[in-house]
Order: sequence, then structure tokens, then C-alpha cells
Amino acid sequence: MKKMGDHNSITRRLYLSVALMLTLSLSSFAQDAAPAATAAPAAETAAPAAATAGDPVKGKDLFNTNCAACHKLDAKATGPALRGISGKHDKAWLYKWIHNSGDLIKSGDAAAVKVFEENNKVPMTSFPQLSEADIDNIIAYTSEPKAAAATAPAAGEKVPGADANEGGVSNNVILGALTLVMAILIVMLFLVNNVLRKVAAANGINVAPKEPTLPIWKAFVKNQFLVLVTSIFLLLASGYFVYGYLMQVGNDQEYAPIQPIHYSHRIHAGSNGINCNYCHSAARVGKTAGIPSLNVCMNCHKNISEVSDTTATAEYSKAFYDGEIAKLYKAVGWDKDAQKYTGKTQPVKWVRIHNLQSFVYFNHSQHVNVAGVECQTCHGPVETFEIQKQFAPLTMKWCVDCHRKTEVKMEGNEYYAKIHEQLSKKYGVEKLTAAQMGGLECGKCHY
Ligand code: HEC
Ligand code: HEC
Ligand code: HEC
Ligand code: HEC
Ligand code: HEC
Ligand code: HEC
Repeated sequence: MKKMGDHNSITRRLYLSVALMLTLSLSSFAQDAAPAATAAPAAETAAPAAATAGDPVKGKDLFNTNCAACHKLDAKATGPALRGISGKHDKAWLYKWIHNSGDLIKSGDAAAVKVFEENNKVPMTSFPQLSEADIDNIIAYTSEPKAAAATAPAAGEKVPGADANEGGVSNNVILGALTLVMAILIVMLFLVNNVLRKVAAANGINVAPKEPTLPIWKAFVKNQFLVLVTSIFLLLASGYFVYGYLMQVGNDQEYAPIQPIHYSHRIHAGSNGINCNYCHSAARVGKTAGIPSLNVCMNCHKNISEVSDTTATAEYSKAFYDGEIAKLYKAVGWDKDAQKYTGKTQPVKWVRIHNLQSFVYFNHSQHVNVAGVECQTCHGPVETFEIQKQFAPLTMKWCVDCHRKTEVKMEGNEYYAKIHEQLSKKYGVEKLTAAQMGGLECGKCHY
């Protein structure tokens, strides 16, 4: 038995080497991660020298507040594209035009009349309030070369989708490494076993050969208690799964149909911060939230015919998104080159996602306005959904559970003052839940 010391030192060495390997592999992951973090700042864009004296940064602000409603830099909107406009007209003309284009046209200026006629004689707003320095700034902004505007996103800015990709790669690497570590461990255990056997043999220790044993299933069948426990377990487990399966019948949670236009809540409600009420205004005042008509879309999309480069993700390209906006134009009959409606429209048939049974009464304004429940509580983080889906199960249990635990906001609501007093006496509580207010009565939800 003295020889045991030998075995111990071998195993100890093995443990040490495994520990060493693990630390090595972990630190190499850390190194993988480091360059990614430092690479980003390189994307800082240097503003190119402006063609005109003027501050393009100030100019951009002025442009966005005053001109962007009708002009884009590189594409025609209500007015013509303005990039490089200082090459087309001289400054004196531009000052006059921007201060009051109507006067310039009336004076018979050939260039002015020509521009006016080329653009369907849509009058441009006058900007007498802009100083010549302001206009210089705007011209400086419109003189920036296109490349500068389209450079890679600056440091700190996140490119949606890119993370997902990186995550996938590093996850795979980690998985691969773990498999490798496991494989090495198995090989090592095997080797250890061999070494131990050899050591034992060298020392003349007899390793007892395995006694012939009952096959495991025979032993199992013989033990009636084990058989009983196992069958009960199997029954319970299958009952659990069958119940779960049956409860799903008619439950459309996670339903996310393909819509006729790929409309992204992530881009509209998320990145562009458009309030839900802008499009679903009825949710505050009525039973249904409603889907906006295409006119609402055109409030913005008369001028937004394409997405910015940074909006594209690994999954959806800019060309794809622009194509979806083109579908919107086709549906409302908007000719973006002529900037007018053609009159040829075709309805967009949105696929309905949420759909309660017809025997259930659900009212949005009761929940959104009276109860002050956020849209997200029932619909999930919609502002992150690229594709809209049914977030909640919409089962009776879901409604009732929430009524049981959500307190009704009584403060400042006269309608509730009296009923609150009576009910809180009845239940002996300070705060009432929707359930105690009658939110569990069948008739409230069922016609
Ligand atoms: C209400 C819409 C509208 C706004 C706002 C507007 N423009 Fe215009 N702009 C037009 C239209 C339309 C034309 C084409 C001429 C016409 O029909 O009067 C035009 C023409 C021009 C032209 C001549 C383009 C060419 O190709 O010759 C310049 C320069 C110009 N705008 C600059 C500006 C600047 C700078 C601003 C912001 C301070 C501005 N515009 C704001 C509608 C607008
Ligand atoms: C710019 C307009 C717009 C804004 C802003 C907007 N939505 Fe929508 N929403 C739509 C359109 C269009 C549809 C139908 C297409 C679809 O399902 O993707 C829709 C569908 C939905 C649906 C599914 C409707 C169904 O068929 O059951 C829900 C839920 C929803 N929106 C919630 C929200 C919430 C919550 C917000 C605010 C975070 C929001 N929406 C902001 C336009 C908008
Ligand atoms: C308040 C302004 C606004 C309204 C209203 C609006 N959009 Fe947009 N939409 C935008 C902006 C801004 C972008 C481009 C975002 C970018 O470049 O990152 C965009 C992009 C898009 C795109 C391309 C990206 C995507 O979501 O697939 C489609 C398609 C689109 N809109 C459809 C619609 C439809 C349909 C409606 C009406 C239900 C609508 N939009 C209403 C501002 C609006
Ligand atoms: C208490 C939960 C709850 C809240 C809060 C809620 N909704 Fe709903 N929403 C529902 C249910 C349930 C339906 C399905 C209604 C039906 O089928 O009759 C629905 C349906 C919709 C629809 C599909 C069209 C319709 O009206 O049936 C839209 C769009 C929608 N909700 C938007 C919103 C917006 C925007 C908000 C926030 C202002 C909001 N919802 C807040 C539960 C909720
Ligand atoms: C996120 C929590 C929540 C969910 C989910 C919810 N409710 Fe409610 N509901 C409330 C609250 C809070 C009130 C009390 C509003 C008030 O009157 O102040 C309420 C009130 C009601 C009322 C009026 C009850 C009364 O006493 O007059 C009806 C009807 C109702 N809900 C139906 C539904 C139905 C149907 C569903 C499921 C499709 C549902 N609710 C899901 C929170 C919820
Ligand atoms: C807070 C709202 C609410 C209350 C209160 C409520 N229900 Fe329901 N009930 C629902 C909803 C929502 C559904 C639809 C569930 C679905 O489609 O999966 C439903 C479905 C049902 C169904 C049909 C089940 C099926 O699978 O089709 C029956 C029966 C029913 N409820 C009976 C009752 C009775 C009885 C009461 C009173 C004790 C009651 N409900 C109270 C919301 C409610």
C-alpha cells in the first residue's frame, strides 16, 4: 500500500495539466475579444475641406430644420437634389433664390423660371430670415462630397445585426474549444487508467477481474419497487406533455405571418422613435387599436423613398428595404420621380395577427387609458420586432392572472372614489386589484 504515493502524484500532475490547459484556452478567448473592441474608433470621419467658406456642421442643422422637408442631397424630393448646387448657380443668385424664389421668378430671371418649370411650378417657401452666413453654411453642407456622408458608422454607433453575427462566431469557437477539451479529458482518463494498470502490474498488485453480473435490465425487472416508481414517473411525464400540447390548441402565441409589405416596428418605433399613438391612435380612445391607413405612411414617405445605409442589417439589405418602400408607393399610386399621385391604387391586405374569439370583449382604451397599462406589457418589446408577432398567449388564464395581480389606479379618479370606499371595506384592503373590482365576472369579458 506504500506505493499509493506514486498514483497520487500522477493524478496530481494530470489535474495540474488540465487546469493549465483550461486557463490557457480561456485567456486566448480574452485575446480574441480584445481587437474587436479597439477597432471601432478608426471609423471616425474627418470632415473634408468645404468648397465654400462656411460651416458644414451648422449647415446640416439648418438644412434639416428648413430644407429637408422638401429637399434631399442626392435624390429628387419635392424640390431637386441639392448636392453640389454651388456648381450650378452662383452665390448671389442662391441668396436671392432662397430669400424669396417667387420674386426671382417674377423678375423673369431665366435660370429661376427654368427651375420652376422643371419642377411642376411648385413654389418654394421663402426664407427671408436666413442670413447670408446661414446660407453659406447650408451651401457648405451641400458641397460635401457624397463619400463623407456614406462612410461606415462612426465609433460607438451600433450596426444592428452585426452583433448577432459576431455572437454566432464566438459561440461556435467556444463550443468547438469545449468539445476539444472534453475529448482531451477522455483521452487522458483512458491513459491514466492504462498507466495505473501498468503501475499495479509492475508492483505485483492484482487488479480483481470483473465478476460476471446480471444484465442491468434483468436486475431492473426483478426489483418491483423500481418498476413501479419508473412507471409512475413515465405516466406523470407523458401526462404533463400531453396536457401542455392540448393547452396549445387554438393558442397562436408567437404567430408572425409574412405581411404584404415588410414593415419593421424596429425601424419605425425603435430606431426612429415614432410613438405608437402616431399610427395606432385609436388605442387610447376606442375598443380597437387599429392599423393605420396608407395616408398616414405617406405623411413621411413622400420624402423617404429609401433607407439610410446604416439601416441595412446582415439579414435585410438596403436594396430589400428600398424595394419594400417601392411596394408602398405602388399601393398608394405615388410616382416618386414626378412627385405626384397617379390615381392607380391597390389596397394592402395586412394579415391580422391578434384575434380574440368573437365571444370575448376586450377594450383597449379601458386598459391603456383608464388602467394605464403600457402597450409593451401585453404586446412585448414591439420597438425591437423586425417582424410583428403575437407576444402574449391571449388565453383566458392570461387575462384573469393579470386582473388578479394588477392594482387599479384610484388616485384622482372620481369615478372610483365611492366604489373604492365600499369595496376596500368589503375586502379590508387599501388597494384594490382589477379582480376585486369585478374583473373576474364572466359577463365583463363574455357577451
Ligand atoms: C416647401 C418645399 C421647399 C422647401 C422647404 C425648400 N425648398 Fe428649395 N425648392 C423647392 C422646389 C419645389 C424647388 C424647385 C423650384 C420651384 O418649383 O420653385 C426648389 C428649388 C431650390 C433650389 C434650386 C435648385 C436647382 O436645381 O436649381 C435651391 C438652391 C433650393 N431650392 C434651396 C433650398 C434651401 C437651401 C432650402 C432651405 C433653406 C429650401 N430650398 C427649402 C421646394 C422647397
Ligand atoms: C409608423 C406606423 C406605426 C407605428 C409607429 C407603430 N405601428 Fe404597430 N403596426 C403598424 C402597421 C402598418 C401594422 C400592420 C403590419 C404588421 O403587423 O407588421 C402594425 C401592427 C401592430 C400590431 C399587430 C396587429 C395585429 O394584426 O394584431 C401590434 C400589436 C402593434 N402594431 C403594436 C405597436 C406598438 C406597441 C407600437 C409602439 C411601440 C407600434 N405598434 C407602433 C404601424 C405602426
Ligand atoms: C413618422 C414618419 C414615418 C411614418 C408615419 C412611416 N414611416 Fe416608414 N420609414 C420612416 C423612416 C424614417 C424610414 C427609414 C429609416 C432609415 O432610413 O433608417 C422608414 C422606412 C420604411 C420602410 C423600409 C424599412 C422597413 O421597415 O422595412 C418601409 C417598408 C416603410 N417605412 C413602410 C412604412 C409604412 C407601410 C408606413 C405606414 C403604415 C410607414 N412606413 C409610416 C418613417 C415613417
Ligand atoms: C391589456 C393588454 C393590452 C394592452 C395594454 C394593449 N393591447 Fe393591443 N391588443 C390586446 C389584445 C387582447 C388584442 C386583440 C384584440 C382582439 O382581437 O379583439 C390587441 C390587439 C391590438 C392590435 C390589433 C388591432 C386591433 O385593434 O385589434 C393593435 C394594432 C394593438 N393591439 C396595438 C396596441 C397599442 C399600440 C397599445 C398601446 C397604446 C396596445 N395595443 C395596448 C391587448 C393589449
Ligand atoms: C396587463 C394586465 C391586464 C391584462 C393582460 C388584461 N387586463 Fe383587463 N384590466 C386590467 C386592469 C388593471 C383593469 C382595471 C381597469 C380599470 O377599470 O381601472 C382591467 C379591466 C378590464 C375590464 C373591465 C372590468 C370592469 O370591472 O369593468 C375588462 C372587461 C377586461 N379588463 C378584459 C380583459 C380581457 C378580455 C383580457 C384578455 C384578453 C384582459 N382584460 C387582459 C389589466 C389587464
Ligand atoms: C378577464 C376576462 C375574462 C373573464 C373574467 C372570463 N373569461 Fe372566459 N375567456 C376569456 C378569454 C380571453 C377567452 C378566450 C381564450 C382563448 O381563445 O384561448 C375565454 C374563453 C372562455 C371559454 C371558452 C374556452 C375555449 O377553450 O374555447 C369559456 C367556456 C369561458 N371563457 C368561460 C368563462 C366563465 C364561466 C367565466 C366566469 C367564471 C369567464 N369565462 C370569465 C376571458 C375571460
